[in-house]
Amino acid sequence: MYCGGDDLSAIVIDVGSFSTKGGYAGEDTPKDIFPTDVGCVFTDKDGNYVGSHQQGIGENQDIDIDVKKSYYTGTNSITYKRVGMDIINPLQDGLIKDWEAIEHIWNHTFHERLIINPGDHPILLAEPSFNSRSIREKVSEIMFEKYQVPALFISKNAVLSSFASCKATSLVLDSGGGMTSVVPVHEGYVLKNAIVKSNLAGNRLTEEYYKILNQKNIIVNPINLIKKVEIKPGEFHVTPLQIPGLTESYKRYVTLETIRDLKETSCRVADSSQLSEEMHISQVPYELPDGNLLEIGSDRFQIPELLFNPQPLNINNNNHMNTDTNNNNGNNDIHHQTYQPLSKMVIESIEKCDSDVRKEIFQNTILTGGNTLFSGFHDRLLRDISEQSFTLKPKIVPNLIERKNSVWIGGSILGSLGSFQQMWMSKSEWEEYGRPLVEKKCP
Ligand SMILES: Nc1ncnc2c1ncn2[C@@H]1O[C@H](COP(=O)(O)OP(=O)(O)OP(=O)(O)O)[C@@H](O)[C@H]1O
Ligand SMILES: [Mg+2]
Repeated sequence: MYCGGDDLSAIVIDVGSFSTKGGYAGEDTPKDIFPTDVGCVFTDKDGNYVGSHQQGIGENQDIDIDVKKSYYTGTNSITYKRVGMDIINPLQDGLIKDWEAIEHIWNHTFHERLIINPGDHPILLAEPSFNSRSIREKVSEIMFEKYQVPALFISKNAVLSSFASCKATSLVLDSGGGMTSVVPVHEGYVLKNAIVKSNLAGNRLTEEYYKILNQKNIIVNPINLIKKVEIKPGEFHVTPLQIPGLTESYKRYVTLETIRDLKETSCRVADSSQLSEEMHISQVPYELPDGNLLEIGSDRFQIPELLFNPQPLNINNNNHMNTDTNNNNGNNDIHHQTYQPLSKMVIESIEKCDSDVRKEIFQNTILTGGNTLFSGFHDRLLRDISEQSFTLKPKIVPNLIERKNSVWIGGSILGSLGSFQQMWMSKSEWEEYGRPLVEKKCP
């Protein structure tokens, strides 16, 4: 058992596919939020740039030992125009895939954002509810052995979101950057066999928006790739910057960041799937960084519509998802199955719960994750569920806290509860029991 002092506040970290949130337990909001994307520059022994993809980043990290790797984290570092820098993400389908890159995210959180010594603080990590046993054990090993943390706890995202809404039993629909999941929680525990998940989430919507703009020959010039000079008050001369050596992944990253802003500010969910031609859709203006003005019409609705009606994506058969909800080993096999509308994911999950707890779970439905922030999301989900012939009706818990940070906030609440302090895995317990300790203490 961990017997730290009261003066050592725990650190809470939620590494999401899109952003990492870190801060102190007991506080209302994370101290810092930064992109989970990482910049990396690989050079060979002669100083020539070697693309990270050629080096099998991610799964295969047995790379040439003569390759020198430099990593960059945080918004300013990864958007800096650096020759040969690729932008990669340590997670794939919500799970850690690249262990070197994820350590840079943890280092950045501890040493550059929170400016703490992880050896001095208990650490509470949020994890995807469908995480695999091997990943959580490896994470624990790194935390105890590399970072020398005195105590650790790993808690599932859905449980933390549920706590943040003061519920021990709930149905958590979390749609973030990389993943959308529907996870029933009963008395503080995830019902693993009823998890339904998909990788159709916010990042994919941004990419789909990019495709639509390309099809319309609309060129998006991110601010990082243009030179904008004011020639008269309010009038600008814009020229594309020609910087040799910028990688395609860098250019794509900064372009998608621009489109993400466009998506977040202009898109909203339609009341129903009947987005017909004759429907009057008011256009909204959006000024791109180069000063070009876009008038956005039906695209405003069509992008979030993909969550509720993913048929266009299924037709393209462009789908990398795993809805095999019995497969909770986290292996994340690519099944090339079809995406389901959100309402069907919710109902499938509820139907997998025992009939005696279904009602209570459904009556406490919680929406969380940045992708649920589209205006109209809540009403449309309720409407679509009511249109399915399903006897139970959901009740969505009003969000008292910011949806984007609810996992972190739940961790902050849990980590500061007096009754929780006996739950930590301590360093001495780790030394005694090793990896099996994780499943035992953090089920
Ligand atoms: N106001 C908004 N409207 C629509 N989408 C938004 C809004 N704010 C954020 N998003 C989207 O939410 C996503 C990020 O959400 P979140 O921070 O919950 O993801 P994450 O926790 O990093 O990822 P995940 O949980 O999937 O691994 C991004 O795709 C972003 O574009
Ligand atoms: Mg998340």
